[in-house]
Amino acid sequence: MRHNKLNTLILITLLVSFSLYSQTNRKLDLIIDKPTGEVPSTLYGIFFEDINFAADGGLYAELIKNRSFEFDQNLMGWNTFGNVQVRTEDPAFEQNPHYVRLKAPVHSFKSTGIENSGFFGIGLKKNTNYQFSVWARINQPDSLEKIRIELIDSENNPVQSAELIVNSEKWKKYSIIMRSTITESKSKLRIFLISKGMLDLDHVSLFPVDTYKGHENGLRKDLAQALAELKPGVFRFPGGCIVEGTELSDRYNWKNSIGPVENRPTNHNRWEYTFKNRYFPDYYQSYGLGFYEYFQLSEEIGAEPLPIINCGMVCQYINAKEDQLPVIKLDPFIQDALDLIEFANGDSTTHWGKIRTQMGHSKPFNMKFLGVGNEQWGEEYIARLEPFLKVLRKTHPEIQIIGSAGPDPDGKNFEFSWPQMKKNRIDLVDEHYYRNPEWFLTHAGRYDTYDRNGPKVFAGEYACHTASKKNDFESALCESAFLTGIERNADVVKMATYAPLFAHVEGWQWRPDLIWYDNLQLVKTPNYYVQQLFSNFKGTHILKITENAKQIIGQNGTYASAVYDKKTEIYIVKIVNTTTSIQNFNLEFKSNKGTHLRNIITYTLKSIGLDKCNSIENPNQIIPVIENINNNLPVLNIEPQSLMIYTFKL
Ligand code: AHR
Repeated sequence: MRHNKLNTLILITLLVSFSLYSQTNRKLDLIIDKPTGEVPSTLYGIFFEDINFAADGGLYAELIKNRSFEFDQNLMGWNTFGNVQVRTEDPAFEQNPHYVRLKAPVHSFKSTGIENSGFFGIGLKKNTNYQFSVWARINQPDSLEKIRIELIDSENNPVQSAELIVNSEKWKKYSIIMRSTITESKSKLRIFLISKGMLDLDHVSLFPVDTYKGHENGLRKDLAQALAELKPGVFRFPGGCIVEGTELSDRYNWKNSIGPVENRPTNHNRWEYTFKNRYFPDYYQSYGLGFYEYFQLSEEIGAEPLPIINCGMVCQYINAKEDQLPVIKLDPFIQDALDLIEFANGDSTTHWGKIRTQMGHSKPFNMKFLGVGNEQWGEEYIARLEPFLKVLRKTHPEIQIIGSAGPDPDGKNFEFSWPQMKKNRIDLVDEHYYRNPEWFLTHAGRYDTYDRNGPKVFAGEYACHTASKKNDFESALCESAFLTGIERNADVVKMATYAPLFAHVEGWQWRPDLIWYDNLQLVKTPNYYVQQLFSNFKGTHILKITENAKQIIGQNGTYASAVYDKKTEIYIVKIVNTTTSIQNFNLEFKSNKGTHLRNIITYTLKSIGLDKCNSIENPNQIIPVIENINNNLPVLNIEPQSLMIYTFKL
């Protein structure tokens, strides 16, 4: 009797939970056999700009600031002691003419030397090799001079030292490997003259030996590796407003960023003084990370290179129309564009192709895209864009041209730009949106109605800005909701790049940013993981996923997209749940490929609080969790405030 009662109870419980289950589960229809378009390999990419100490002090692995003594205050970044002079006579490098002369002090108790504290300190790792190098010369024939190089810890103690003999009256490069015995983010480098005469020093450099792919003049390995792990399809460089400069003379001139690194002229960095509360008077561009290195990195991380060139315009936010280069003077700028194409794609018999070959890359970089102007707008932009187009279309019809829609995703400038882009048959229009969470959620359907016959879209700069302007989970969640809309419309949106990419925790001007770092460690933000998940699972074909025959764009706070990857035969469903309750879906589909799901894996990025961020102290608070699901039931349980990706085979 008791036994029977128990059975009845179990039956009732099962019936109740079944009816609850069928009541609460929503139904998702995945149309498997009819892709609605192809996903371009370029869809998710990287935007790089030297803002927030992203190049010098960041991705570029050089540890010495103002290594060529070319900042306006030539000794900025250096402490000097004893008898040190800045000179320019008979320099080692024509375009970086300043150097220092060290003379021995008269009294033997005193010393002469220089000390550099890097970018917010020099980051050294224990048992790691660093290559010190310096260009030097002596001034007396048949003499020799000696210097001692010291690595200094944060308490000012030398922890490692080495000596070098300088024996040539001609400028010559001297190098030595130093092995750090400490891990320290605030080290310094000191150089003493320890002989009795005098000598000249220039281009003082300290690099980790272990750079990304082992290149000399290379990149910080952990940061470059983080980029590679995004599997980006496109790499936009060098910006951003830095392309424009605050005046034409300090625009990014790609020709100054190639050739021997010592002779690339130091330039201002416009982010030095853009924000008064984030003022960094010692922010310059060494161009050590220049166009050759950008192309090389693109190749090594498998991304299409997408350079943006200056179109004869300076930053429109801070300059008047009259400050722009007159259209009749554009020719040298157009020539720069043509020369750039030759530098990237010309063979080694061409002038610029030869320079690339001499730099170590005889094979062309196979550049396919070129952005003309950064974030430009108005008639003055179109007046400059058109002459570029005229020449580029004629000489390089194979290059796809990107034009700007201005700084906003709507409004007067935007409305003006698009018809101009259509009229000029631009290939891709660069749209920018730094907007709040609400905007990202309410615009997830933005591209559903875009004209399929006009230019394609490059979402060239975007990020969700919450009130805190931090890389909090909320911003990442809203970006993921928006990205389902980009993915669904990958037939019209060919590229999307989050911006900005990098920020030094002590040197930022703009936030949020995708990757943060100090001198030793990096922090991948929740936004980084969103990018990585979308990019790593971008698939090759767009699939339709609907609820009640409608795309899922915010119904009950959920967003969805789906793709198929032809190479791996994997189906990928991405669902974003912005609500605080779990959302359960029954996945329904018909397919002649079968109905049995196998190899089901879920990737979940979920909230531990909308305002929570990853940090140097706690870098792994918010990371994707990967789970293998053995259960064959096509029920998707989307956790509260999460991005969940289901991958499976049939
Ligand atoms: O990404 C930061 C800045 O935002 C870019 O330099 C500029 O293009 C935009 O205004």
